[in-house]
Amino acid sequence: MSLIFKRRSVRKFTDEKVPDELIENLLKAGMQAPSSCNSQPWEFIVVSKSEDKKAISRMHRFAKPAANASHLIITLGNLNEAKVIGMIEQDLGACNENILLQATHEGLGAVWLGFHPIEDRTLKLKEYLEIPDYCIPFSVICVGWPASQGEVRLRYDESKVHFDRY
Ligand SMILES: Cc1cc2nc3c(=O)[nH]c(=O)nc-3n(C[C@H](O)[C@H](O)[C@H](O)COP(=O)(O)O)c2cc1C
Repeated sequence: MSLIFKRRSVRKFTDEKVPDELIENLLKAGMQAPSSCNSQPWEFIVVSKSEDKKAISRMHRFAKPAANASHLIITLGNLNEAKVIGMIEQDLGACNENILLQATHEGLGAVWLGFHPIEDRTLKLKEYLEIPDYCIPFSVICVGWPASQGEVRLRYDESKVHFDRY
């Protein structure tokens, strides 16, 4: 089975720190993603200080896993770099998924916390991390060594597949 079928969101992490080179591998994977016109409009903020992780974990009700992660990777969409502005979310989505798959490959746990396009969430992140106006705070990816992980179940559903016409 490919990595895609092994990945699950991990929300509980051990206290062990993830080495810097593994974080760099995740960033390399993110930057390897496809993007419209190869614009690569992503930027990243890597957060590892406990007080910052706690503050981010309080930014919305589903952000709690941020508090006990080793690192947070904040993915940003730079509007000045996007060639087709309306495609920036797709570019960043591909980038995020690459990071999650690389984390699975490294034996790490990770979960994607949604921020964009919910303004109440993005404004808090923008202010706290001093993100400039030309960058969309897209998501927060929590990374750490997994303390527990859900089992993987195949989600293939043939009723969702249409051939030739809907
Ligand atoms: C756009 C997006 C936003 C998400 N936001 C959150 C979130 O805020 N908190 C969280 O714990 N999980 C979040 N998730 C993870 C989903 O809950 C998870 O992917 C889904 O339940 C399927 O489980 P799996 O990732 O283990 O396959 C998000 C995933 C995506 C793609």
